[in-house]
Amino acid sequence: MKSNKGVFITFEGPEASGKSSQILLLSKYLKKNKIPFIISREPGGTILAEKLRKLILDQKSKISNLEELLLLMAARSNHINEVIIPNLNKGKIVISDRYADSSFVYQGFVNKFGIERSQKLHKELLNNFYPNFTFIFKISSNEIIKRIRKRKNKNKYDKTDLYFHRKVIKGYKKIANSKRYIFIDATLSMEKIHKNIINKLNI
Ligand code: TYD
Repeated sequence: MKSNKGVFITFEGPEASGKSSQILLLSKYLKKNKIPFIISREPGGTILAEKLRKLILDQKSKISNLEELLLLMAARSNHINEVIIPNLNKGKIVISDRYADSSFVYQGFVNKFGIERSQKLHKELLNNFYPNFTFIFKISSNEIIKRIRKRKNKNKYDKTDLYFHRKVIKGYKKIANSKRYIFIDATLSMEKIHKNIINKLNI
């Protein structure tokens, strides 16, 4: 379960921080410059994992925090084996909208499973497979609420609860303790954020 050809990049951050729009801009840039890449997301990225996504994010699913984490990890395992590793082996840039860091923050920290405990599971069960770069989008909880109010299709984490979003922000600060993490000011203009990302990746 090792790859040293492509580059694995993940986008992380609280709800409504603009990750998806930036991934779209990055994909346009890569296409224009003929750099091979694929875009994926979590939970999801494979047929099985997209089915699990529906169950995980369904407001009506009655699942415990542990069950949620195990489902996320099952989806992640499938995503790693079927999509991430094979594409890295082809030399592609693999971009994922969320990955293991989301579990450390949402299940580990916010839902109190434990950051270290969830990292240990990642090590034990998923071979400690980490991205080369992780962009963490920085935004205030007030701005998140403003943006969520404008959203039509809300998932179960799209709450208008200031305390919840503050915890998510705090969680990202807590886990970002290595060189692969790059904080991005998500309040800048779309174009400026895009330029910052390209500069950091040096592509
Ligand atoms: P999504 O609609 O993709 O939200 P966003 O646009 O904010 O990325 O839904 C993904 C949701 O799943 C998001 O609220 C965070 C949550 N999540 C976890 O709680 N743990 C995880 O490991 C992952 C990958 C996502």
